[in-house]
Amino acid sequence: MKHEYDIVIVGAGLAGLRAAVEIGGDTRVAVLSKVFATRSHSGAAQGGIGAALGNEEEDHPEWHMFDTVKGSDYLGDQDAIEILTEDAPRAIYELEHLGVPFNRTREGKIAQRAFGGHTRQFGAAPVKRACYAATRTGRVILDTLWEQSLQKGVAFYDEYQILSLIIRDGQCGGVVAYELATGKLHTFHSQAVLFATGGAGKIYKTTSNAFASTGDGMAIAFRAGAPLEDMEFVQFHPTGIYKLGILISEAARGEGGILLNNDGERFMERYAPVIKDLAPRDMISRCMLEEIRAGRGIRGQDYLHLDLTHLGQAVIESKLAEIASFARTYAGADPVKDPIPVQPTCHYMMGGIATDADGRVVVDRAGTPFPGLYAAGECACVSVHGANRLGCNALLDTLVFGRRAGIEMQRYIRATGSPHRSAEPEKKDADRLRGLMESKGRERSGRIRAEMQATMMDKVSVFRVQDGLRAAVAKIKELQERYPQIAIQDKGHCFNRDLLDAIELGHMLDLAEVIILGALYREESRGAHSREDFPARDDTRFLVHTLFGYDAIRGPQIFTKPVKITRFQPQERKY
Ligand code: FUM
Repeated sequence: MKHEYDIVIVGAGLAGLRAAVEIGGDTRVAVLSKVFATRSHSGAAQGGIGAALGNEEEDHPEWHMFDTVKGSDYLGDQDAIEILTEDAPRAIYELEHLGVPFNRTREGKIAQRAFGGHTRQFGAAPVKRACYAATRTGRVILDTLWEQSLQKGVAFYDEYQILSLIIRDGQCGGVVAYELATGKLHTFHSQAVLFATGGAGKIYKTTSNAFASTGDGMAIAFRAGAPLEDMEFVQFHPTGIYKLGILISEAARGEGGILLNNDGERFMERYAPVIKDLAPRDMISRCMLEEIRAGRGIRGQDYLHLDLTHLGQAVIESKLAEIASFARTYAGADPVKDPIPVQPTCHYMMGGIATDADGRVVVDRAGTPFPGLYAAGECACVSVHGANRLGCNALLDTLVFGRRAGIEMQRYIRATGSPHRSAEPEKKDADRLRGLMESKGRERSGRIRAEMQATMMDKVSVFRVQDGLRAAVAKIKELQERYPQIAIQDKGHCFNRDLLDAIELGHMLDLAEVIILGALYREESRGAHSREDFPARDDTRFLVHTLFGYDAIRGPQIFTKPVKITRFQPQERKY
């Protein structure tokens, strides 16, 4: 089936919908999503969205910028970070005007709370910068932007799995997608395509990410010629529910919650004497694992306690309601009375499809755009998060750069003519799917997926070391070789989960390989990338972004580009 739009957006999370709201109306826009739009993973974002409004205490965008640069371990591009933090107050007031129900102060202003790594006066003490709606901040923004998109006439194609980009003469002119309900292939021709497909946490065994976070957009763009940037930086959020990885928001510590070891000690006081439990995530996750290694995990096991009991029922029920319910349901712990068992959980990809600050996908170190192809949100690397993202900067990133991508795409389609039509762009995908469906191989995607997840968790998570990374890359290559032997058991065409699993697995294997190769290359420790064999940050060799280009014969090919430093020179990171 064929469709024609001016712009196709893949992904109905906040980045995709913010772009859709910007361009809907006169422009014909389609949003494709592999899940029902409002089930996109942005809806799981809990704690808040950062902006220096100064509603609760003095704050300035410049302080926010500094914290973000320092949080990124000086790898974020400072020109892009300045755009992010300067535009943040506008982005929040815009949401307020669209109807987002933020919590309020007594005077009726948008309420704010503390979050990890956000400080006043360049590191002096934590500052209240996160605007929030209880612990359902992403949920309420997603619902609001979805309603706004519908009002602007945006067409939604829910439960469509993207398969490939339509590229002709180096220009992107649409996508091919698979309709989950029918098994039919659809081609969407358009003048521009925005990928807003989110992250890839499902590469890891323990993750806070939704089932759908399998990195489809990153992998498809990569194979189409878009480089992936800084993929070795994978964020582990300190407080996932033990064994399950379900997120217990940093807002819990923003409201005063503390981490305890088996001795009942508030151990973060030793590691980050100034901001303690509100240190950035990379640091807290490492400290937790150090405590566990030192035998101070709870009952000698591999978890610690998050204690909210001193906050009292009123604060817990009014400001942390969702996480209280998660703790009761999934950990059997009532946070009013019991500590919550927690361990670090894979949460966010700092790396992604290389873009500029207007969402244009760029193909080289000079910033040459890939005509017609855009990316925003977690699947993109602008780069504003560098080596470690600060909490509540992800939602901000989606809104600021989703909007900018929308503005730029509109400018682009006005300046360029219709895309070249490709004959039968879906043929390759049809052949690929037929190959999978008819395969007589003996492999199961579930088995390969489990081996990939275990390898990544064991050897490529918070701490890394050369031998482990080499073993991991060898394992991923073995899994890539086994992949063509996957047989699909379900021969049907209606919601064929078996087939979808296999498609997603192919994407994740590509990304896993790039993550490991980046981690092997980067012989230093910076932000979320902690090499035990190279424990120091090495600005002389590695104050650079890594980029990998796809090469079907030789495998992923690395190149680097400089980090943009404008206002804050790299310093040792202390909290
Ligand atoms: O902890 C949280 O609520 C997560 C926020 C974020 O990732 O920005």
